[in-house]
Amino acid sequence: MTMAGRRPLVAGNWKMNGLRGAIAMVEALRNGLSTDLLDRVDVLVCPPSTLISSCVAAVYGSRIAIGGQNLHAKPNGAFTGSISAEMLADLGAKYVIVGHSERRAYHHETDDGVHAKALGARRAGLCGIICVGETKEEREEGRTLDIVRAQLAIGVPKGATGADTVIAYEPVWAIGTGLTPTPADIAEVHASLREMLGQLIGAEAQNVRILYGGSVKPGNARELMAVENVDGALVGGASLVAEDFLGIINAYAR
Ligand code: PGA
Repeated sequence: MTMAGRRPLVAGNWKMNGLRGAIAMVEALRNGLSTDLLDRVDVLVCPPSTLISSCVAAVYGSRIAIGGQNLHAKPNGAFTGSISAEMLADLGAKYVIVGHSERRAYHHETDDGVHAKALGARRAGLCGIICVGETKEEREEGRTLDIVRAQLAIGVPKGATGADTVIAYEPVWAIGTGLTPTPADIAEVHASLREMLGQLIGAEAQNVRILYGGSVKPGNARELMAVENVDGALVGGASLVAEDFLGIINAYAR
């Protein structure tokens, strides 16, 4: 548990990486995680949709969860190439990432779209991981808090709870760059997000986990995960290598 009593979550986002051979990574993860550690932290892998089924099979009987990276807001219909929350849940996924900055940048996802997708995730019983974060320009202009608070205010559905919603703060300039904000900067943003969540959903805000994401590595995980209001990590590049991902999860070891 974090100091505030929330159960930390370390989530890996494989993005568009991984052929069938990558299942070995999930098996290595399973073998490398002690029950003691899995008692202390939730572990999630979000592979490409093509691997969800085999990853679910590979973690069967363990506490490791599998999730999707994106979804269509509607349950079904004439939306060629899209995948609904119901389809992800049908495969055994428990979580889905919503509004990752790469979706916002390359697929023109808006905050209203994020809201609709978060509702879709909840409808199917999935926990939505809603991503927010500022660009380099926005940070330099001193607009970070305004940007992430607005993304949160529009994206998070009414009545969201700690069971159906996770927030991930991912500064766009920190993703895949090796750069991270200072712990003080992260603390400021996470405190502001927690306060905004309080305005949106009241006391339930205390139960919603707020992850940090962007260049989390084994070498910086302990320091970043110790920041107040940081309830885990969303990990891109380092989640592709079992040893690195295990190194990050180990930030929560005794
Ligand atoms: P990174 O990506 O860990 O490779 O910086 C994080 C993310 O995009 O979720």
